[in-house]
Amino acid sequence: MSEWQKSTWRNKPRVQMPEYTNTDALSSVEAQLSKYPPLVFAGEARRLKQHLGAAGRGEAFLLQGGDCAESFEQFSADAIRDTFKVMLQMAMVLTYGAKVPVIKVGRMAGQFAKPRSAPTETVNGVELPSYRGDIINDLAFTETSRIPDPKRMLQAYTQAAATVNLIRAFSTGGYADVNQVHAWTLGFTEGEKAESYREMANRISDTLDFMKAAGINNDTAHTLQSVEFYTSHEGLLLEYEEALTRLDSTSGKWLAGSGHMLWIGDRTRQPDGAHVEFCSGVQNPVGLKCGPTTTAEDLKVLMAKLNPENEEGRLTLIARFGAGKAGEHLPRLIKAVQQEGANVTWVCDPMHGNTIKSSSGYKTRPFESVLREVRDFFAIHTAEGTIPGGVHFEMTGQDVTECTGGVRAVTDEDLSDRYHTACDPRLNASQSLELAFLVAEEVSQLRARTSKRQVG
Ligand code: PEP
Ligand code: CO
Repeated sequence: MSEWQKSTWRNKPRVQMPEYTNTDALSSVEAQLSKYPPLVFAGEARRLKQHLGAAGRGEAFLLQGGDCAESFEQFSADAIRDTFKVMLQMAMVLTYGAKVPVIKVGRMAGQFAKPRSAPTETVNGVELPSYRGDIINDLAFTETSRIPDPKRMLQAYTQAAATVNLIRAFSTGGYADVNQVHAWTLGFTEGEKAESYREMANRISDTLDFMKAAGINNDTAHTLQSVEFYTSHEGLLLEYEEALTRLDSTSGKWLAGSGHMLWIGDRTRQPDGAHVEFCSGVQNPVGLKCGPTTTAEDLKVLMAKLNPENEEGRLTLIARFGAGKAGEHLPRLIKAVQQEGANVTWVCDPMHGNTIKSSSGYKTRPFESVLREVRDFFAIHTAEGTIPGGVHFEMTGQDVTECTGGVRAVTDEDLSDRYHTACDPRLNASQSLELAFLVAEEVSQLRARTSKRQVG
């Protein structure tokens, strides 16, 4: 076997990547990006890996969320702030339910490239190449917009750098103070329909009051006013990934400098393909989407390739089967993991198996199906005696109408009001927080059951 280099993916079959016609422009962008600073540092990626290892053992819980696709047009400080804010609220509610630290990972600062189910799109009899995310081409339905343009990688890098910068500022600059985060959540539960969540919110208030009384406050506990927040995206556009890959002098290992965690999508996980080759050689924690077509045999090969040293936290398996379908697929994959004695962190993505076309013609996801898949995921892990380590959502802090349902019910007819996604439908702020309450209840019941089992 020839040795891994950051460019060896080029010798493997690739799917879902653009064919750039202007190769001079491509080389010049790659050369430029290779000189730019990485967006994350190796020590941070290693720390995230340790946290994810803890989630695999049930000692932490992963909350991964953000846009399906980040967009150049909708880039704004407010949008970043709002998603960051709702993720902190969700994390706090989940911490209360799970009684373990919640690891916060945004689908942010790099989530620009999209795999597509069809290479072309036809509108009114006109067929054009599909939109593949702002880092590759433009959403507008014209021939020139859809031509892949390598220069877009530079804009994506700049946007990612500005996003990471703002997130770092929010994480430590006082914005993430627990009391403030909880005050926002109380605001949500004051709504008449969110009454059922008020009880848990009040219990969190009591806990905060108790801590204050016991002298644990912002002056004595720095962790109450700052958070660790990590970035992640699908490692799809390998020219971009390669150009930002750097040798870490501390460990002597390679680091994908584009984000803390990369994942491999359901369409690009061919064991001998380019994407698996690239991810196998970088030290970042890696996610692998597992869908209905993932076979136990492929999973075994993938685990060996992506985590040959069986390191905890290195590999997160992101299950995305669809509501009611996990029972058919998850147990056989759990068995494959057990047969190999592999260390993995199991996470549920209840979004990508639950996309439907609404009667009004919009691509949507019913809140009920999203919740059902999470519940199935927990139930199956409980039955198998394995550990559900986290959740992965497509969500935004904005008040969009893209998924149906939730306490502030979005109906099919409402979808056209504020449907802004450049790709898949996202949970809005209220739906995201509501889901966090429901997942927190689920996790706390699970904890109660398993601790009873251990005692009994
Ligand atoms: C995604 O996470 O946006 C995605 C395309 O998921 P999957 O690869 O699981 O379909
Ligand atoms: Co998506």
